This record gives sequence, structure tokens and C-alpha cells, in this order.
Amino acid sequence: MILVVGANGMLGQDLLKQLPGEVQGIDLPDIDITSFESIQAAIDRFRPRIVVNSAAYTDVDGCESNTELAMQVNGEGVAMLAMATRGVGAKLVQVSTDYVFDGAKGSPYLEDDPTGPLSVYGESKLAGELNARFNPDHLIVRTQWLYGLHGKNFVETMLKLAADKDELAVVTDQIGSPTWTADLAAAIRALIERDCRGTYHAANSGFCSWNDFAGAIFAESGISIRLNPLTTDKLNRPARRPLYSTLDCGKLAADTGFTPQPWQEALKQYLKQRKG
Ligand SMILES: NC(=O)c1ccc[n+]([C@@H]2O[C@H](COP(=O)([O-])OP(=O)(O)OC[C@H]3O[C@@H](n4cnc5c(N)ncnc54)[C@H](OP(=O)(O)O)[C@@H]3O)[C@@H](O)[C@H]2O)c1
Repeated sequence: MILVVGANGMLGQDLLKQLPGEVQGIDLPDIDITSFESIQAAIDRFRPRIVVNSAAYTDVDGCESNTELAMQVNGEGVAMLAMATRGVGAKLVQVSTDYVFDGAKGSPYLEDDPTGPLSVYGESKLAGELNARFNPDHLIVRTQWLYGLHGKNFVETMLKLAADKDELAVVTDQIGSPTWTADLAAAIRALIERDCRGTYHAANSGFCSWNDFAGAIFAESGISIRLNPLTTDKLNRPARRPLYSTLDCGKLAADTGFTPQPWQEALKQYLKQRKG
């Protein structure tokens, strides 16, 4: 069976729906990945063949002031998951992020490009990637700009803001691929079904700025609002973000035959589902 850790989260919920065969989910308080005893108890209880870890401390700005917690959950937690899964001969699937890169490459990142996180969150997730390798049967899936039906995300924030504003400023100088968690879950399923190992990138295809993404959300939702340009330096957020962190997903396509749909199509489907 497959055990999804972090199953109450945005991606976790879609993994529960899409992974093949018998799938169980677990989250806080039934498992705490900062405790080896807690991880081992879950492994003993479920005896999984595969553990998919989508649990993380995902507050990117919060990580800047909670370095210790970020490293415990996103870094050391993964080391303990790797040890525990290795101990029972199970595979570990670890979800990671484009924020392990510095965004200065200027073209889509390949899996073996040099990393260079700009934030505590990025550093902690990179530590998680390195620690996942304690289990030789590991699969690391880097993704980016997630939104889904079961969590706080950019699409919902934009729709909420648009409800009582007639203009908004959104950044034009961060470029990436908005990714629907349902499509990411399908990519992880494809990788698991082919027993892929090592590091892969998985995101919806195509790329845009957050400002373009906001424009598409409003256009698809029939909302008329003035959308102004903004640059990242004006935002003054605690964590630095990579400016261009598009992920090259060619290896996913080559090894599984699966290419996530264009981000514009994914957004349309998501908006339809959230209404329905
Ligand atoms: N969101 C994005 O844009 C994005 C982009 C790239 C990569 N990722 C990665 O994708 C994965 C899934 O992200 P997501 O947005 O679905 O995250 P999420 O909605 O924040 O879900 C994470 C889940 O992990 C749980 N959790 C936190 N600390 C834990 C602990 N110590 N032990 C066990 N569970 C714990 C959380 O519980 P509580 O809610 O109770 O804390 C939550 O249910 C993460 O690895 C994230 O780093 C996300």
C-alpha cells in the first residue's frame, strides 16, 4: 500500500484521490515527521510499500523567522522518513520545490542544474532532498506555484481580493509555471507506476508571471478589474524568491510518456471544479 504523509494538505488531498491501489493518508497529529518514534509507529502500523511525503512547513516567509522549525520539518524530518522507509525496504517519494534554485539561469532548470536557494524555505527543502537520498530507493519530485481545491493558494487569494477592489498590483518579474495539484498528483502517479527513481521536475506546461496568471484568473472568471504591474523589490517580503524558476519537465515526459497540460487549461478545469 501507499502511505501519503501530509494527507490533509493541498497536494495530499489530490494524492489520496489519484494514487493507484490501496492508499492511506496520515497527517498531524497522528504523525509528526519531526519525531522518529512517530514515523516508525506509522510505518509499523501501515507497512507501506511506498511513502509519499507531501508534509512540509510551507509558509515561505514564516520560515525566515522560524529557521529551526523549517529545518526540523523540511530537512531532518525527511532524513528520518528516509531511514524509516529504508529500514523496511519501502520507497520514499519526496516533494520538493523550484525554490532550491536561485532563478538566475535564464532558461528552464534541468534536474541536475546546480542548486542555490535564496531563502530559509529553499535551504530547508534542499536539505530534505539531500536527506531523502539516505534511502537509495527515493524519488524526488520538484514542482512549483501550486494551487488546488484543498488549500490556501494564489487563485483563491486573487478571487477574494477582487471581490472588494477595483484595482490590484501584481508582480511582473517572477516567472514560473502555475501548477494544479491534480495534475501534479497525476505526474507523481505516472512516476510511481514506472518505478522511477532519482530527481524529476513536474509542473503544468508553459510559463508566465504572477501578473499574467492573475490576468488569466480574472479573464476566465469574467471579473473586470484593473491589473497594475509591480516589481518584486517593491513587495519587501521577508523571503527572497527566484525570479525565473521554470522547471524543464522533459525527463518526466521521456520516462513516463506523461506531460502535464498547459497551465491555462489546468486553470480552466480548476475554476470549473471549484464552482461545481
Ligand atoms: N504550495 C506551493 O506552491 C508549493 C510549491 C512547490 C513545492 N511545494 C511542496 O509541495 C508539498 C505539498 O505542498 P502543499 O502546498 O500541499 O502543502 P500544505 O497544504 O501546507 O500541506 C502540508 C501538510 O503537511 C502537514 N505538516 C506540517 N508539519 C508537519 C509535521 N511536522 N508532521 C506531519 N505533517 C506536517 C501540514 O499540517 P498543518 O496544516 O496542520 O501544519 C499540512 O497538512 C510540500 O512539500 C511543499 O514544500 C509546494
